[in-house]
Amino acid sequence: MAEIITIANQKGGVAKTTTTLNLGYSLVQLGKKVLMIDFDGQANLTTCFGVDVNSIETNIANIMTLQMEDENLPDKSEYIVSKNGLDLIPSSILLTVVDANLKLEMGSERILYEILEPLQEDYDYILIDTSPSLGSLTINALSAADSVIITVNPQLLAMMGLNYLLKTISKIKKRINPRLGIKGILLTMCDTRTNLTKVLSDQVSEAYDGKVKIFDTQIPTTVKVGESIYYSQAISEYSPSSTAGLAYQEFAKEMLDSEIR
Ligand SMILES: Nc1ncnc2c1ncn2[C@@H]1O[C@H](COP(=O)(O)OP(=O)(O)OP(=O)(O)O)[C@@H](O)[C@H]1O
Ligand SMILES: [Mg+2]
Repeated sequence: MAEIITIANQKGGVAKTTTTLNLGYSLVQLGKKVLMIDFDGQANLTTCFGVDVNSIETNIANIMTLQMEDENLPDKSEYIVSKNGLDLIPSSILLTVVDANLKLEMGSERILYEILEPLQEDYDYILIDTSPSLGSLTINALSAADSVIITVNPQLLAMMGLNYLLKTISKIKKRINPRLGIKGILLTMCDTRTNLTKVLSDQVSEAYDGKVKIFDTQIPTTVKVGESIYYSQAISEYSPSSTAGLAYQEFAKEMLDSEIR
């Protein structure tokens, strides 16, 4: 049965999408079966994956709408796309309409889980990429998850908003999804040469260590990430020896190791 992991932070541009794609790719390299869900109307993950949004008929917005209306879902082959052994349910701008409709629907927090539950037996991990907001879509993603990975960019006033996110997670755990746990905080876009990264990452460690795990692996900043996105590849596919590519592989291993213990 797949573990469902939501990658979240309501702050924008903290490498949620980059982490989802590269963790997914690295887990596949380690022999795991992985499905990613693009749960953001910006559809960045879908674009990074290299899917032409116009070429797919069914995306997560359609599936969410059918599930909300209690209608039958199409065969999974119609909404799951595959590349390099990695699977994705794509998104589209229509997901923003779903966001609005979810607010009006009773008991709507569990809609995504209802969609993912029957898919769990096909995978080891289901990774959900979320939008930079704590609106109904992200609440749905957290309600579906076994655990959360919080990505934090130490350059972007890392601490701001983190307390609010942790509080939201604890409310969801209490009220909707008792399975929900915090896997840890991943520091992304770290520039090890600057003192600021060190000061800020120490600050995060001090504030949350003991309460929330902070992964030992930090993802360095490198121009290779932007280039890999341009070529619709994972960083370790585009440039296996790049610092960020190696770091994401290391991170995948650290995550697996932390589960065994
Ligand atoms: N390690 C890295 N080195 C350099 N650039 C990076 C790195 N990680 C991410 N980026 C770049 O930072 C930008 C934001 O990353 P990404 O889209 O993954 O963030 P996000 O949290 O998903 O953003 P949003 O909140 O808008 O969904 C992208 O342009 C991405 O290419
Ligand atoms: Mg994103």
